Amino acid sequence: MRGCALVTGGSRGIGAAISLRLAAAGYDICINYHHSRDGAEEVRRGVEGFGRRAMIFQADVSQPLQVKEMVEKVVDFFGGIEVVVNNAGILSRRTLTEELDEGEWDRMLAVNLKGAFLVAHFAIPYLKEARQASIVNISSIAGKMGGVVGVHYAASKAGLIGLTMALASELAPYAITCNAVAPGPVDTELIDPNLKEKLKGLCPLKRIARPEEIAACVLFLIENRYITGEVIDVNGGRYMD
Ligand SMILES: NC(=O)c1ccc[n+]([C@@H]2O[C@H](COP(=O)([O-])OP(=O)(O)OC[C@H]3O[C@@H](n4cnc5c(N)ncnc54)[C@H](OP(=O)(O)O)[C@@H]3O)[C@@H](O)[C@H]2O)c1
Repeated sequence: MRGCALVTGGSRGIGAAISLRLAAAGYDICINYHHSRDGAEEVRRGVEGFGRRAMIFQADVSQPLQVKEMVEKVVDFFGGIEVVVNNAGILSRRTLTEELDEGEWDRMLAVNLKGAFLVAHFAIPYLKEARQASIVNISSIAGKMGGVVGVHYAASKAGLIGLTMALASELAPYAITCNAVAPGPVDTELIDPNLKEKLKGLCPLKRIARPEEIAACVLFLIENRYITGEVIDVNGGRYMD
């Protein structure tokens, strides 16, 4: 028994793959979702298929009261929390900065960055009680390179990298690790299908990632107890010339 992992945005895409990978490794899973209840139910069945306990919980990670309630319900159900994966995220279509609405900026930062803060804020007291605990944040290549998806997305993902390093330092005295994964394009609904061919062409490996390849990196970071404050690039070699 490895304990419980809370995976935000676990109903689809990368979060679903992380939930299943961690369940296969022996973790019980809380699958957080916002709108995709059916997806969350399907992932729950997948987790249970590995013989692990699972619960689903609807919460908008940008809303403090919802996050607080989620964390408390997880602790009630599983008896504690060992792992937090801050995966929930949104991406809007490309918006030029001069046309970007302040509300779009606020929403992006609220979900992608503040959401990770809120989950950590409410979960840390329980992580400190765990035998072995970790936080993994899903950043993005956009947080390091900018890219074409808009300043709000890039800033939210760069912010997650800063949050990761500051939190790693704060939690190191408790032997709690905190790391980030910075994926390049991954084959999920987040990516505009019309862009997939172009994105493949930008990658030295000439393909985009499968969600399972990001999930494998998350598990690696959780299991290695001597990596903290690190950002792992999983992008098919995009930084090579
Ligand atoms: N796909 C990529 O190319 C790529 C590359 C780099 C980084 N990432 C990052 O990886 C993470 C997962 O992306 P993905 O590709 O798997 O996206 P996705 O398929 O669109 O899934 C997004 C997930 O986030 C959840 N979510 C969105 N807003 C939420 C909110 N306010 N509260 C709680 N959950 C919320 C969604 O839940 P519901 O469906 O239930 O609403 C869904 O489970 C994101 O942080 C994204 O920025 C993705």
